[in-house]
Amino acid sequence: MEIHLDRESATPLYRQIVAQVIAQIEDGRLAVGTLLPPERKLADRLDVNRTTVVTAYRDLVATGMVEARVGRGTWVSDAVMDGANLPQPLAWQTLFSPTAERLRDPVMRDLLATVGRPGMIGFGAGAPEPEFFPVDLFRRAMSEALDTHGANLFVYGAVQGWLPLREALVAWMARGGIQASAEQVVVLHGSQQGLDLVARVLLEPGDAVVVESPTYLGALQVFRGAGARLLPVALDQEGMRLDLLEQVLARHRPKFIYTLPTYQNPTGVTMPLARRHALLALAARYGVPIVEDDPYGELHYGDEPPPRLAALDRRGLVIYLSTMSKLFLPGLRLGWLAAPPPLVEAVTLARQNVDIHPNSAMQHILHTFLTRGWLAEHVAALRPTYQARRDAMLAALDRMAPAGMSWSAPAGGYFIWCQLPGGMRARTLAVEAAREGVSFVTGDAFSPNGNARNAIRLNFTGASEDEITEGIRRLMVAVRRLARRDASPARAAPDAGPRPVV
Ligand SMILES: Cc1ncc(COP(=O)(O)O)c(C=O)c1O
Repeated sequence: MEIHLDRESATPLYRQIVAQVIAQIEDGRLAVGTLLPPERKLADRLDVNRTTVVTAYRDLVATGMVEARVGRGTWVSDAVMDGANLPQPLAWQTLFSPTAERLRDPVMRDLLATVGRPGMIGFGAGAPEPEFFPVDLFRRAMSEALDTHGANLFVYGAVQGWLPLREALVAWMARGGIQASAEQVVVLHGSQQGLDLVARVLLEPGDAVVVESPTYLGALQVFRGAGARLLPVALDQEGMRLDLLEQVLARHRPKFIYTLPTYQNPTGVTMPLARRHALLALAARYGVPIVEDDPYGELHYGDEPPPRLAALDRRGLVIYLSTMSKLFLPGLRLGWLAAPPPLVEAVTLARQNVDIHPNSAMQHILHTFLTRGWLAEHVAALRPTYQARRDAMLAALDRMAPAGMSWSAPAGGYFIWCQLPGGMRARTLAVEAAREGVSFVTGDAFSPNGNARNAIRLNFTGASEDEITEGIRRLMVAVRRLARRDASPARAAPDAGPRPVV
């Protein structure tokens, strides 16, 4: 225990001792149970009267931070541990960085919390159906990996990802025409991590990013978290409108264009081949890279989609992101990125600080699924199932939706995007729908500028056909009730409060 007395100070010496002991307890220099020096010894050491130390110790005992007993001495009390006697709780709110403040959007957390809620038909989260998870094959792959690699399955691995898995992913991408080498691939813990890493290496606060409007809410959260200025570009039936994009590119200098050209989240729209070429040409003309996010491209319910932008790119403009979450197992947390070498290098180095490398055991499992053809078979089996679910939802909407409501008819992917009738507010509908036992995500969550308030996104892959029909019935009960209420001016309710997901 170190005490430095200032004899010139107006503060009495015993109070200086009290203040310094409390400070040392609070910052941990004096741990619980530490004996304070005997009174006489401290008085001699500090060259003060013994009553000064006696008074100081008496006041310290009164704070509850130290205890004293005759014969045992004076020690730091364990009451300090529960913080009961600390003067103030730590003011955490004052410590958060500006980045933490920008990251305070709970929408994704709340959305995932709704998955599997009893009694609720969930059209909210973009989740695959657990019933189809290939658990038996997974068990087989796991036990084979353990037999072959034993304890080596759990050692640290390469930051960029296990090379054999990167090679298998190269072969997987080649199915969609993407020519990449294993050196251009980074294995990720989900494509969400890819968005975060791309933002880390390319964005500074104030930088501009072009986004589709509406677009994937998790990307909006990342770009907002990075302090980026979002430049929204509206969509039409063929994806991002290039006339509007050109105006934006001519006026601003965005760091990149973020796009989902294939079965877009949330609208389901797909960009045709001609526009893909035109987008690449425009990006090349303005020297702006493209981040192509492609979680859904394998899930086509008819013809295959046009080649990915990454497959058409001849100039090294495209950062391609994809994931196993929508085809396979979202909880596996595996995705990947394929990009030009300088970006791969930057992302890999940034990744060291985040989680060091991807989970080794899960990389082996995915490698087995890819190289044995199990994943391809799994996806081939999923397509007709999800197609039937999409059709069930479209048919239910056709049968039950009131006039004035419209929706997209996606050729693949996970989502149908609905425009509500009249000026109906999606957030108000979300509250009514929750009462009926059905959930969805409101359009504003996908909007870079809070628009799309009278739109909703419906996921059709996470519920059975019967549940879908029942869920749409419940939803339409809520829509009609709200339409009647909106039509009655006396009872028109303001936009309801809760966050979009219920
Ligand atoms: C467009 C898009 N990108 C990225 C992700 C993130 O997926 P994950 O991190 O599970 O790979 C999602 C998930 O919904 C998505 O829809």
